[in-house]
Amino acid sequence: MLRHTLEELQVSGLEKIQQAATRDELERARVELLGRKGSLAQISKQLPSLPPEERAQVGYLLNTLKETLERAYQERKAQLEELELRQRLEREWVDLTLPAAGPRPGSLHPITQVQQELEDLFISMGFTVLSGPEVETEYNNFDALNIPPEHPARDMQDTFWVEGGFLLRTHTSPVQIRGMQQLGLPLRMVAPGRVFRNEEVDAAHEHTFYQLEGMMIDRDVSVAHLIYFMKTMLSAIYHQEVTIRLRPGYFPFVEPGFELDVRCLICGGRGCPVCKYVGWSEQLGCGLVHPNVLRMSGIDPDEWNGFAFGLGLTRLAMMRYGIDDIRWLQSGDLRFLQQF
Ligand code: PHE
Repeated sequence: MLRHTLEELQVSGLEKIQQAATRDELERARVELLGRKGSLAQISKQLPSLPPEERAQVGYLLNTLKETLERAYQERKAQLEELELRQRLEREWVDLTLPAAGPRPGSLHPITQVQQELEDLFISMGFTVLSGPEVETEYNNFDALNIPPEHPARDMQDTFWVEGGFLLRTHTSPVQIRGMQQLGLPLRMVAPGRVFRNEEVDAAHEHTFYQLEGMMIDRDVSVAHLIYFMKTMLSAIYHQEVTIRLRPGYFPFVEPGFELDVRCLICGGRGCPVCKYVGWSEQLGCGLVHPNVLRMSGIDPDEWNGFAFGLGLTRLAMMRYGIDDIRWLQSGDLRFLQQF
């Protein structure tokens, strides 16, 4: 009777072991068959109640079965281990002959690129690059630039005021004042930097943007000098000979003052959507330094004069790279930045 049970157990036990698909399943089969409370242990508990001859025989069969199952278990375990290893190697396989990923090269922000190019250009023409603070005095930002209190020009530049009479500079022009104090005469300086205006943000307006200020003071500086430097600057930026025109423009710190346009680079002046069918595109404000500005900084306007200009670096970067929404520039979005 028991002998029959053992034979059946051999068949079903081997099957269970050999068909275990995972190490867990195999372990469960081992516990079920060979564990302390497993099928074989149950049977050996019945041995004492058997007649002696049969006990010896069953005992022998039981041992043989135990060895058979144990061997099958070890074999299956080895198989599963090898299978697992093979799967893991496949999963973690690395092609060591591929070139290394290496550091991901970054790039300079488009505004920084334009700014650095302009700095290099002006340095090559004998200009000093100057920087001024973003938090400025009301005096440097307005008064010293011939914009007295209550002057309507102050309203044209919606100002962020800071406690203690300070403000966030609304243009880079206050660096003109610092330049006149720091550099001797004659002077040639440019001052790139961030400026702030309390503006509603949309595709064309930001409360924070970049300008490049320029100033040259010498003897007998004329509008011809101004035109020469502006043409040189814009041709360098756009990598082509540009045609410019001056229109009257009002800035209290220059006289005469101009708005400077470039003939549309897209249509050559015939009119297109980019220049809104005007044929020209506005680039910057400029003019000859107002005598009051020179006087307030202790310079005799009968002996010295000069020109000044203020260029929107942000606008320039947008035109050069065809960026149609100013908000991209400060989005921090890598999809945008990685294009430059
Ligand atoms: N500061 C002026 C602006 O922000 C630009 C400018 C600078 C005009 C220098 C004339 C001379 O609009």
